Amino acid sequence: MKLEAEAIAPSNIAIVKYWGKRDKELNLPLNSSLSVSLDSLWVRSKVTFDESLDRDEVLINGKRLDEREVNEYAGRVLRRFRELYGKSIFARIESTTNFPSSAGLASSAAGIAALTFASNSALGLGLSNRELSKIARIGSGSACRSMFGGFVKWNKGDLDSGEDSFCEEIFPPNHWPELVDIIAIFGEEKKKVSSRSGMENTTATSSLMKCRLEFVKETFEEVVNAIRTRNASKFFELTMRHSNSMHAVILDSWPPMNYLNEKSFRVMEWIAEFGKAGYTFDAGPNPHIFVLEKDMDEVMKFLKELGSVKILVNRVGKGPYLV
Ligand code: DP6
Repeated sequence: MKLEAEAIAPSNIAIVKYWGKRDKELNLPLNSSLSVSLDSLWVRSKVTFDESLDRDEVLINGKRLDEREVNEYAGRVLRRFRELYGKSIFARIESTTNFPSSAGLASSAAGIAALTFASNSALGLGLSNRELSKIARIGSGSACRSMFGGFVKWNKGDLDSGEDSFCEEIFPPNHWPELVDIIAIFGEEKKKVSSRSGMENTTATSSLMKCRLEFVKETFEEVVNAIRTRNASKFFELTMRHSNSMHAVILDSWPPMNYLNEKSFRVMEWIAEFGKAGYTFDAGPNPHIFVLEKDMDEVMKFLKELGSVKILVNRVGKGPYLV
């Protein structure tokens, strides 16, 4: 017997970042986070639950993942689906990304979200996106936010079970049509320290982490309000400060780590001076620059002069869907 479904899910970029966990098995975060789903970065995943398989198999862009990689990401999601389905049936996952994986562009988030969305359909479980966000979260924290389109909040929750740590769409994809996210790719090499082990290091060693958690708590509603009222300058400022705050605790970790490079810092300086855009960086050197459509040409010009390998333009996108 074979049960099959295929889905596409968007990548997302965090404005309020997730960096640190209170539970590693369930990926329960230390703080709530907020992201934007992106319309031109996505992953397409086909899931086939097949009784003749004796283990889960994952192929990304035709490349087979080793057992450890399967177990730590997709395998966690598939195990949860087997529990819910009540039957031990393994799956083959074939994913394709339309962007370089492991260049800090959240390919695992989109991939896990697409896998989760497709599995629900293949097994006929009929779970809501909110329920699915809790399953995707177990595979990779940031993946839970790719379960929705638009502007998405991941509630950190307080329960040990993780039942109150789920996502919700707080503003729909068409809420702020003039807002653009320009991504400059400076390099496509794999990052040295994964987000997973990097945030573990920070949580264990950074003494500034306590201040960062306070900062997130104090400013979260301000971020939501800046988006609600489409207050561009406030939104840009808070986006940059939240990125800086995460990279500050990363630099404060021991042994030391740093995901940014010389070009990243050039971007930070130029954008701050420009005054009409806001940058944010995940665990990699490539900036996401938020800007209003009317000002985007100036940013594009700067990024070309700086020497970007690739420039990707995104709008706020929709959530996952079946194909
Ligand atoms: C810098 O979701 O990749 O992108 O939960 O261990 O799989 P795990 O980590 P992951 O971390 C993402 C960190 C980040 C910030 C963010 O997306 O909020």
